[in-house]
Amino acid sequence: MISKRWGMQVGLVVAVALGVSACSGEPPDTHPDQPVTKRRAVFKEMVQTLEPMGMVARGRKDYQAAEFLASAVALEQLASKPWAYFTADSNYPPTKAKPAVWDKPGEFKEAQQSFEVQVAALVQAAKGTDLDAIKASVSQVQQSCKACHDSFRKVEAN
Ligand code: HEC
Repeated sequence: MISKRWGMQVGLVVAVALGVSACSGEPPDTHPDQPVTKRRAVFKEMVQTLEPMGMVARGRKDYQAAEFLASAVALEQLASKPWAYFTADSNYPPTKAKPAVWDKPGEFKEAQQSFEVQVAALVQAAKGTDLDAIKASVSQVQQSCKACHDSFRKVEAN
């Protein structure tokens, strides 16, 4: 029992030392500032923050006003964070951003702004108690994530 646990821990330490990530054959992020890794970390937090609100919208989780509003506010705080990490020198493997991020900066900026507008609208809706309006706002936010991905993120290859 004890030795098995040790074996797992040693294995983990070796994997970390080699820079091997848990579940992908992607090239490591070798940029000194790691902008790809940093923006992805924000997107992952966004998914986790949006998820309980998505469940409320689909009727799979009870709506609790204070908890929902806290999630919406947390999403709003995250919503502006990824963009600074799309620096001019950050189009390198393992990014899944399309070249359009750098070729069409005006459109990319518009996609960010319309997303942030939808998130702000979600926060406003969450301050009220109209559950239908809240659900509609969640859906608008999800659509604006998707709209940007359709234009600016490569379809998952793996
Ligand atoms: C303005 C454009 C834009 C918006 C809005 C946007 N994304 Fe993304 N997202 C991207 C781009 C570009 C990438 C690819 C980043 C990379 O690999 O460098 C990405 C990557 C991701 C990833 C993958 C992260 C990883 O580990 O590879 C997730 C998950 C994600 N977005 C979720 C969301 C969610 C959820 C929302 C809405 C709440 C959202 N995104 C809104 C552009 C956007």
